[in-house]
Amino acid sequence: MSGASTTTPLDVTRLRADFPILERSVNGHALVYLDSAATSQKPQVVLDAVDAYYAGHNANVHRGVHTLGNEATDIFEGARERVARFIDAPAEGIVFVRNTTEALNLVASSFARELLSPGDRVLLTEMEHHSNLVPWQLAAERAGLELAFLRVDNDGRLDLSNLDELLAPPTRLLSVGHQSNVLGTVVPLRSIIEAAHARDVLVCVDAAQSVPHMPVSVRDLGCDFLAFSGHKMCAPMGAGVLWARPELLERMPPFLGGGSMILRVSLERSSWSTVPHKFEAGTPDVGAAAGLAAACDYLDAIGLDRIHAHEQELTSHLLALLEETEGVEVYGPQDLDGRGGAVSFNVAGVHAHDVGTILDRSGVAVRAGHHCCQPLMKRLGVAATARASVYLYNTHDEIDAFGSALGEVRRIFG
Ligand SMILES: Cc1ncc(COP(=O)(O)O)c(C=O)c1O
Repeated sequence: MSGASTTTPLDVTRLRADFPILERSVNGHALVYLDSAATSQKPQVVLDAVDAYYAGHNANVHRGVHTLGNEATDIFEGARERVARFIDAPAEGIVFVRNTTEALNLVASSFARELLSPGDRVLLTEMEHHSNLVPWQLAAERAGLELAFLRVDNDGRLDLSNLDELLAPPTRLLSVGHQSNVLGTVVPLRSIIEAAHARDVLVCVDAAQSVPHMPVSVRDLGCDFLAFSGHKMCAPMGAGVLWARPELLERMPPFLGGGSMILRVSLERSSWSTVPHKFEAGTPDVGAAAGLAAACDYLDAIGLDRIHAHEQELTSHLLALLEETEGVEVYGPQDLDGRGGAVSFNVAGVHAHDVGTILDRSGVAVRAGHHCCQPLMKRLGVAATARASVYLYNTHDEIDAFGSALGEVRRIFG
């Protein structure tokens, strides 16, 4: 079990006290929140950071000559530096956006649509979230690009047997999720990126499900673009991040036009501000950025390696429990090798939405549906799955509570 034996276990009881929402009950039961892959809960320090910004410093950034404007700018630019340290990347490559979806749209619109040529190929995979699929379809349609796909094998891992072939010309860019939000599969990024770069293919990483859950170093991975959402890593909604190699950002045209992203404007034409500001049109969500910086402090103080080890133990428990439960099918890798803490399953003869609804009666929150991965659902031969996903604040008792509630599903539909 990766790292679990070499790192000090989390004191989850103490840590849960940091999250006010975990005190509440749902339908007369203690809340068991197993939906962190959709969005994580927020610790008090993050809520306080957002409050402190609005209560003490609120002003618009980058254009103030007054004290509050300068303070707000310092908070915003400080958050950029903090996020860069969190993912071990140069800060001038950090573009603040709303979420992973916007970050990937930025790359697909600005880089792929404008800087690739008709006939160039973008390589994706069959297990991408719609956020890492639809923007490329739009770009392909508008710029005459070709799309190709790595397939998923029967264990729920990427089939890399034809990777070299698919990386050959005319492929110019590979965009791939680091960890599947449905199967939990962790993709062997380093070797894939090495293979891609050997063919002069750039790599864009959808890190929405990895940055919150494991140490991720941009320098170490060597990727060219990396996108993630603050709201999945204890930060407020509205704080998303695109990291891109600054030299690529220099070459890319703006994504949105307006205030803050320009150098000079005449009635007929404009010139652009420096990178990364060129990509940050309009008033940014400074409060969310302050919350994201606080979330980086919070997670780093605990240690991403310890969080990952804790999640691995919970996932092992979850997989064992599901395996023991009659009539349950689990999708994705069945052991901890190359997988994280998002576990999809179905109960025979019961629609995933009914599973979710009955679990909710016991206070257990899981997600049900296609998880924005309709092509993957098709590959799995199902319309929907239920998904339990864990984070640093979950306990083994909660996994047991989930198991009992699942027993209730089977009793009702049995
Ligand atoms: C793998 C993956 N990519 C992208 C996204 C989109 O994230 P957001 O809705 O924050 O843009 C998600 C959200 O669940 C995801 O799991």
